[in-house]
Amino acid sequence: MTDAVQPSEYDQVPYPCGGQEQTHPAHLATMAALFGLTPPPLATCRVLELGCGNGSNLIPMARALPQATFVGIDLSERQIRVGQSEVSALQIQNLDLRHQNILDFGKAEQPFDYIIAHGVYSWVPDPVRKRLLEICSRLLSSDGIAYLSYNTYPGWHLRNPIRDMMRFHTQHIADSKRRVAQAMAMVNFVASSIPSHLQVHRKNVETELTRLRELPADYLLHDDLAEINQPFYFHEFVTDAAAHGLQFLAEADFRAMQDSRLSAESRAMLRQLDDLHIMEQYRDFILNAAFRQTLLCHHDQPIDRRLHPALMEQFLASSPLRCKSATPNLTESVEEEFETNAITLSLSEPLVKAAVVIMKEHHPQALPFEVLFEAALVRSQTKQRALSDPRYLQDQRRELGELLLAGYGAGVLKLQLFQPTFCLVPGEYPQLDGFARLRIEANQEATTPLLDNIRFDEPFGRQLALLCNGRRSRSELVTEMTERVARGELPKELPEGPIPDPETLRNMVAERVTECLDRIARYALFVPNEKH
Ligand SMILES: C[S@@+](CC[C@H](N)C(=O)[O-])C[C@H]1O[C@@H](n2cnc3c(N)ncnc32)[C@H](O)[C@@H]1O
Repeated sequence: MTDAVQPSEYDQVPYPCGGQEQTHPAHLATMAALFGLTPPPLATCRVLELGCGNGSNLIPMARALPQATFVGIDLSERQIRVGQSEVSALQIQNLDLRHQNILDFGKAEQPFDYIIAHGVYSWVPDPVRKRLLEICSRLLSSDGIAYLSYNTYPGWHLRNPIRDMMRFHTQHIADSKRRVAQAMAMVNFVASSIPSHLQVHRKNVETELTRLRELPADYLLHDDLAEINQPFYFHEFVTDAAAHGLQFLAEADFRAMQDSRLSAESRAMLRQLDDLHIMEQYRDFILNAAFRQTLLCHHDQPIDRRLHPALMEQFLASSPLRCKSATPNLTESVEEEFETNAITLSLSEPLVKAAVVIMKEHHPQALPFEVLFEAALVRSQTKQRALSDPRYLQDQRRELGELLLAGYGAGVLKLQLFQPTFCLVPGEYPQLDGFARLRIEANQEATTPLLDNIRFDEPFGRQLALLCNGRRSRSELVTEMTERVARGELPKELPEGPIPDPETLRNMVAERVTECLDRIARYALFVPNEKH
């Protein structure tokens, strides 16, 4: 098979692949359940990723669901080889990474419950695009969910002039680093040359320049500078999907389906439309959408779009929302402010405030609804009343359901049907996740079991993480790190001036170790240590 596959441009410059949490089968199942479907059970599901790159996305999934089956294919032999070597180093038995063309896939395959293609649909020729939909149509199990991401209009109508100027300017440059540098130089030159009377043009080029500056070079090369980068209107995409017997389930990012970014008038107007596809398309027009991550299912699946709080009772929930006050009042109806980096909100209902505080204490670990409800009743001191008043108990359940639904829509909390195993408190003998170890040793981003991508740039944290092999105690970790600091191997850890005495130095390092272990644990990168 390998001999028949043509070389890929991703062989020359690999894509900066990483985890994509919105593609996790657990998330796809969550979205299906939210919209009234019964998704295939996760523990034994079959998952296919088309254009899987080096398998960074699939490896943590396969490790978290050892009884499930995972297949990933990619045209780039180089990327697949990297993934295969990690699969074998980690002794993963349930993930098959194949060097294969999407055009050749599917002849003798069993159905898959979850099919993922992230960053592929808009970037491949028409026949491959068509084949992607055919595979979803033919190989998706009857209750399965497919995830396809793609660039969209109208957003790309504004981006295309900048893409065109970059491609024109670099058309004869073969070296990829020079191409990216010259592409950026071109946009910089144009942005600074546009006369002030061309305000709209100038604003657009400047906005694009800001976006492009934030992109990793290899991403820019394979996205904006790629030969094929074909955006679609949402209505075109769903029409093509329907021709393959597939219907729109939802956007993978539930928040993207909410109208919270629109004015009350616009929201009211959109709500009057009784056609979901038209409403979705109008929202794209209003927000100038440039990218979608769409979930599809078979046309006969009985989607129920009535979202109600009781649905929340099947999920696990987690939230990073923190209370502004160090001593919030969780027992009386007084307002407390909660925030993430993006949002601030005021809550006053005691049970709801207690639930948010409890979720933060456990974050990123998700809590089952019942566990959270019980703990919030206790923390808000409403349990006694709830026990003696069934109606009040029901109201309180509903309050929590409403909080979770609204918080999910606002993007300040996560709902899940499953979560991988990791240790929030790593214990006396911390043990780093094996995949993270491989990646940190190779000086690459670590993809966590939650599919976040973390770079360990800072030497102290990096060295400490690698020492956490499950056999060194916390005290031994402090000793080892203190010795390294004392030997001058970590100069940034030493205060200015004379070197502190050994006891002071050890105490200083001990504090840093505790802080770093806690941070690594919050990345979900410690695993339960079976030996200790
Ligand atoms: C933009 S990258 C996305 C990689 C990965 N899904 C991610 O998001 O990190 C597109 C991937 O699709 C692969 N690809 C492109 N055409 C393909 C084809 N015909 N068959 C299989 N893989 C293909 C490329 O090799 C590349 O790894």
